[in-house]
Amino acid sequence: MSDTTQLASNGHAAAILILAVSIFGGATQAQDTPDYFRQNCMNCHTIGGGRLTGPDLKDVTKRKDRDWLAKFIANPKRVIDSGDPYARKILEESRNVPMPTLPGLTKERLENLLDLIEAESKKEALQFKGLEISNKPFTDADRALGRAIFLGHARLKPETRRASPATACTTHQLSAEANSVQI
Ligand code: HEC
Repeated sequence: MSDTTQLASNGHAAAILILAVSIFGGATQAQDTPDYFRQNCMNCHTIGGGRLTGPDLKDVTKRKDRDWLAKFIANPKRVIDSGDPYARKILEESRNVPMPTLPGLTKERLENLLDLIEAESKKEALQFKGLEISNKPFTDADRALGRAIFLGHARLKPETRRASPATACTTHQLSAEANSVQI
């Protein structure tokens, strides 16, 4: 093999290596963000499944700009303590439970998280809807449905069975009525 061929093939190998590393790196990064969200955010937030301890994050990038959100997520206490009126408002709406500062939040991860929230907000089938029962107040319609399901006039749909207030309502009613009914 001549020197030039040797050089060319080395260069080629290096290019393949760089390509492989960047593809692999990209794939882990993309996978990493949903996992990070699941492990660090889903205890308190859904995207499209209603409020838990924190607000539903669906369309949050339409409520506030990305710079503000990145600053808030990186250090919620600092933004709240600065007297920011919006931060104060969402704190009050969350019964004054402040969002903690979470570990491992780099600038890149913040951007990826906001991309993820934005992309998930547009989807019909939401993968971060969460299985927890939302703690939104029940509406009259929820109560009516809960009662109809209990009385056998309506059936639980598979998706309501999983995570809707109607399920919670039915469960409450079931136990309440089971206690009062004499058998
Ligand atoms: C222990 C509960 C908890 C965890 C974990 C948590 N948050 Fe929060 N988050 C909150 C609460 C509560 C608020 C409302 C503001 C407040 O009370 O501090 C909030 C507010 C927010 C907001 C602003 C919402 C709006 O409606 O404007 C964003 C964005 C957000 N959180 C993103 C995240 C992300 C991303 C993660 C994971 C890295 C995360 N949060 C983890 C509780 C939490």
